[in-house]
Amino acid sequence: MERVLVTGAAGFIGSHLSEALLDMDLKVLGLDIFTDYYDKKIKVNNLENCRKNDNFEFAEANLTDKNLKKYVNEADTVFHMAAQPGVRYSWENFSLYLNNNIFGTQNLLEACKNSKPRIVFASSSSVYGDAELPMKEDSELKPISPYGLTKLACEKLCYVYHRTFEIPISILRYFTVYGPRQRPDMAFHKFVKNILEDKEIEIYGDGEQTRDFTYVKDAVQATISAANLKTGFDIFNIASGNQISMNKVIELLESILGKKVKVKYMETAKGDIRDTFADISRAKELLNYEPKTSLEEGLKEFVKWYK
Ligand code: UGA
Repeated sequence: MERVLVTGAAGFIGSHLSEALLDMDLKVLGLDIFTDYYDKKIKVNNLENCRKNDNFEFAEANLTDKNLKKYVNEADTVFHMAAQPGVRYSWENFSLYLNNNIFGTQNLLEACKNSKPRIVFASSSSVYGDAELPMKEDSELKPISPYGLTKLACEKLCYVYHRTFEIPISILRYFTVYGPRQRPDMAFHKFVKNILEDKEIEIYGDGEQTRDFTYVKDAVQATISAANLKTGFDIFNIASGNQISMNKVIELLESILGKKVKVKYMETAKGDIRDTFADISRAKELLNYEPKTSLEEGLKEFVKWYK
C-alpha cells in the first residue's frame, strides 16, 4: 500500500482507520459527504488529527456521484467504510439505506472496475440475523432488519464485481464496534451520556440480549491486515469472540462510573438481533487478528474520550 482511499473517513471507524494509515506514512485520500444522520460537527471533529498530517487529503464527495473514478484511479487500496448505519432507523427511511449503501457501493465498484484496487468493505454482523451461534462466515445468512439486508446486498455486489472484473475484495463483518468517537445513536454512547447527566437509560427488551462487542482499534488492526492479503475474495468476522448481555454491561458501567444506573425497560426494538457471537478463528489464522482490548478497558477509554 502507498496511496489509499477511505470512504466515510469522517465517520467513527473511518476516522480511526485514516489515522492509523497516516501513522504508517501512507498517502490517504478521505471522502465523506457529512450526511445529517448525526451532527456534522462531530464528524468534522473526528477528522481533526488527520487534517494535521500533510499526507492527508480530503474531498467532500457523494458515493452516488457519477465521476467517482477521479478519486479511485490513483489508489492501490480502497477502504469502503461509508454507509448509512443504524439498525433501528432503517425501518424509518429505507430510501437512504438503498441509496447510500446499495447504490453507493455499486457506483464505487463501477469506478474501480478498470484500475482494480484492492477493496476492503465494511460489512456488519447484521447480515447474520437469525443465524445460529457462533456466527461463522459460511453460516446461513438471515438478516432481520432492512439495514442488515442492504449490507448483505453490498456483500453480494462485491462478489459480482470480483467475479466479473477480478477486483480483489475482502469483506469484514464488524460486530458492534465501540470506543472513542462511537456514533451518538449507539448504545454505549447513549448510556454514558445519560448516566453522566443523571438521566435514566433505555434498554430495548429485557436486557438479556447479548452482543459480541469489538474495540475500534482492534477492528482497525484487522482492517489494515485485510488490505495486505493477496487473495481474491474473502470474508472475515471481526469481533472480540466474547458475548455479554446488556444487563451485565450496565453493571460494568456502574462500577466504572461509580454510579447507580436508572434503567427503563422498553419494548424490544424491531430488527434487533437477539444474540451476536462470532467465531473469529478465520481472522486469527489469516489476518493474525488478536483482539487486545477487554470490554472494561475499552469502556474506560470511551468514558475518558466522552468526558
Ligand atoms: C451496531 C451498529 O449500530 C451497526 O451500524 C452495526 O452494523 C451493528 O452494530 C453490527 O454489528 O451489525 P447494534 O448491535 O444494534 O448495531 O449496536 P448498539 O446500538 O450499540 O446496540 C447494542 C444493543 O443495545 C442492542 O441490543 C440494542 O437494542 C441495545 N440498545 C441500544 C438499547 O437497549 N438501548 C439503546 O438506547 C440503544
